Amino acid sequence: MYNGFMKTIVGPMKVFVTGGAGYVGSVAVKELLDRGHEVLVFDDLRTGHREAIDSRATFCNGGLEPNDRWGCSLYDSMREFEPDAVMHFAASALVGMSMEHPMDYFMNNVANGVSLLFAMQSCGCNRLVFSSSCATYGSPHGSPAVERISELTPQIPTSPYGESKLMFERMIKWQARLKGLRPTTFRYFNASGSAGALGEDHNPETHLIPNTLKVALGRKKHVEVFGTKRPTLDGTCVRDYVHVSDLAVAHARALECDVLGEYNLGIGRGYSVKEVISACCRATGVDIPAVEREDRPGDPDVLIANSDLASDAGIWDPKFRDIDTIVASAWAWHKANPEGYRSSEPVPF
Ligand code: UFG
Repeated sequence: MYNGFMKTIVGPMKVFVTGGAGYVGSVAVKELLDRGHEVLVFDDLRTGHREAIDSRATFCNGGLEPNDRWGCSLYDSMREFEPDAVMHFAASALVGMSMEHPMDYFMNNVANGVSLLFAMQSCGCNRLVFSSSCATYGSPHGSPAVERISELTPQIPTSPYGESKLMFERMIKWQARLKGLRPTTFRYFNASGSAGALGEDHNPETHLIPNTLKVALGRKKHVEVFGTKRPTLDGTCVRDYVHVSDLAVAHARALECDVLGEYNLGIGRGYSVKEVISACCRATGVDIPAVEREDRPGDPDVLIANSDLASDAGIWDPKFRDIDTIVASAWAWHKANPEGYRSSEPVPF
């Protein structure tokens, strides 16, 4: 097992992973299994993909809804598996969609989260690693060029998605205070890239990098640029793109080193939409046409991380540190899987 840090390293653990068939979740599952842990993937496959589930993991096709309508009880699966820890990736995660369907977001990310916390409490599992988001910060004030978002930045979401993640963060704090939950909360910036056979495939796809690469593959005519009059150097939104494998390693380290608390996970460098499109042109060798559109509702102008806290805790040491290597990694997967995962189905949100 990994032992690169002067911290408590516990033995192999049994980890119950919600959303383990999804983008970040599937890569985290692979990382956990590679490190010798035992994994149960709990996923309703509404947005996850069967092909993304590692064959070494136990799979339960279930949902977090209290009414058990997906036919596999959350509580029963958890009680039977007896996990040492839960990693909670399952969520609705699109900023723009959340502006159109806010209640779907509160239902999936908050109400179903309550059900997860009840199940953990009933099963006596008190260790949680939660996938939160920099969307909880909203559009922080100040000069974006010099100010990176730290964990002390006020959390004022600008979308129901960000609000729903913040609500769950608050619930787990109360559960920690009153019921002994031991949480680690990760606020990701923009997850991107691929890990071997595991890549980014949403249906519908709304993310910048896969949408741009689809144009290079000839599957879309052009990429749309949402907003060109933002207060940034080139007028387009700036994001901190972080590699999905680096995120997965941070999750495993948090468990192995028993690091609790709230941490931003980003590179600390921002790239504009136009810069990302240029990186996609370099990676693919294709001159990708772009069409300017109105701002997408809910999108903050600039989101760049200060992840010093996670680095100091010994759980964050990203290997992918620039947009070209991240985009090249994404391109490798899209080129090999031009139609994405085969089991991809359209979903309502
Ligand atoms: N964008 C375009 N054209 C596209 C897609 C996106 O211009 O076709 C722009 C967006 O407006 C935004 C930027 O590219 O400014 C990045 O958009 P993404 O959709 O790739 O990512 P988001 O920043 O909206 O959201 C993602 C995840 C969230 C997470 C957030 C953190 O979907 O779950 O990153 O910033 F919270």
